[in-house]
Formats: sequence, structure tokens, C-alpha cells
Amino acid sequence: MVLRLKIKRQKDAEQAYYQSFEIPYEEGMTLLTALQKIKEDFDPSLSFRHFCRAGICGTCTLMVNGFPRLACKEQILPYALFNEELTIEPLKNFAVLKDLVVDKERIIKKQKDLGLWIKERSKHLPINPELSKKIEKSADCILCLACQSYCPQVLEEDYAGPLFFAKIYRLYEDPREEEKPLRIKQAVREGKLYHCLSCNKCNLVCPKEVEPATLIRELMQVMDVGS
Ligand code: SF4
Ligand code: SF4
Ligand code: FES
Repeated sequence: MVLRLKIKRQKDAEQAYYQSFEIPYEEGMTLLTALQKIKEDFDPSLSFRHFCRAGICGTCTLMVNGFPRLACKEQILPYALFNEELTIEPLKNFAVLKDLVVDKERIIKKQKDLGLWIKERSKHLPINPELSKKIEKSADCILCLACQSYCPQVLEEDYAGPLFFAKIYRLYEDPREEEKPLRIKQAVREGKLYHCLSCNKCNLVCPKEVEPATLIRELMQVMDVGS
């Protein structure tokens, strides 16, 4: 079997073009191993990010036929079986540095601006298993950016985006955050929570089932956004 891929290549937006490859399918191949094969055997200049190869680090996210996917978790057997060409593009809503590598600086800066970590720790508030389960969803986020790339609002008027509100939810539930009401209010205001359309697109593409849209709806209720 042969796998057909059409990959978007670019050094900057003006020079973008698509390059087609055909590679032999190998048992158990993922999209990441296919890209590595192309780099090793066909074109060493192809650029993409990866690290853990196990769906943990969140660095390998790409657009696959228009949907954000973790390359290391994407099995390509069905595409090879049905001779379907795969279109591979860099994440949407991000500036491209080269080929499939996007600029994540804006995300890192926004995390710092919104202060998405527990600042005040209370020693006397242990987290029981029930609460731990509630926090789990938000804590499972691997910063893969799939939700940010699929959200129709992230380029709107500084809307922080689903990833950030999934993190902010953690502050809301975690009893160790002592300045909770003030910090959540600040983050929700600065991140412009009210721009969320509740369209659920972020829920659909999150590989860790964090369900940012669901967490955002809970935050909206407690903050009474829009009233
Ligand atoms: S539900 Fe909100 S955060 Fe999620 S994709 Fe839609 S607009 Fe974006
Ligand atoms: S919420 Fe889900 S899709 Fe968004 S960055 Fe975290 S793991 Fe990725
Ligand atoms: S390489 Fe780490 S999530 Fe894919």
C-alpha cells in the first residue's frame, strides 16, 4: 500500500505551496512516522515539531484534512487502505515559521499576562478524590493548541481562547488558590470570556477530552457573564 500526502510548505505566507509525496505504508505507521520517513528518505528540509511521540507533550499538532490532530496519535492505515490523499497544513490561527512549524510565542506571553498558575497556596486544604476528579479535566490539558486553532473567535478582539479558559477553570475549582474570586474575575475580564460563541468546536477537537467549551459555560454561570 502507498500513502499519498500533500504538504503545505512555506518560509513565509507569500511563498506557500503544496508538495506531494507518495511513501510506502508500513504496519502501525502514524502521521508522525510518515513525516519522519519523508524527511529521512525524500526531503530533509521538511520542518515539523515533535517530542514525546506518545500524545503527552502536545508539540506535534497539525491540520489533517482541515482538522487539528496530534501527528503522533494519527493512525494512517485508513487513508492508505482507501487511497485517500492526506492534506497536511500548519495549525490555523498561528503565524508560520517554516513549513509545519508555527510561532507559539503569543500563547506563552498570554499565559504570563493572565497569570495562569496558583499563586497563593493554603497548606490546610487537601484535595479530596471528588474534587481531584473535577480538576482533572482542566489539568489534563497538554497545551497542544488544537482548540486554539479551531476556535472561530481567537482572532477576535483579543479573545484569549479555549485553552486559557480551561486553565482558568482550574483556579476556580482548586481550593489552594486563596485569591480565587479576584483572580478569576481578572482573568475572565482580561481574556474576554464573553466573546465565546459556545459553538463547541473546541470540545470536538481536543485530544484529551478537556471539553473547554463545557468548562467555559460553567465559568460563565459563576461569573454571570453577559448580565
Ligand atoms: S465554544 Fe467558545 S472557545 Fe470553544 S471553539 Fe466555540 S467560540 Fe471558541
Ligand atoms: S484544551 Fe485540549 S485541545 Fe486545547 S490545548 Fe488543552 S489539550 Fe489541547
Ligand atoms: S509528539 Fe508529543 S504529543 Fe505528539
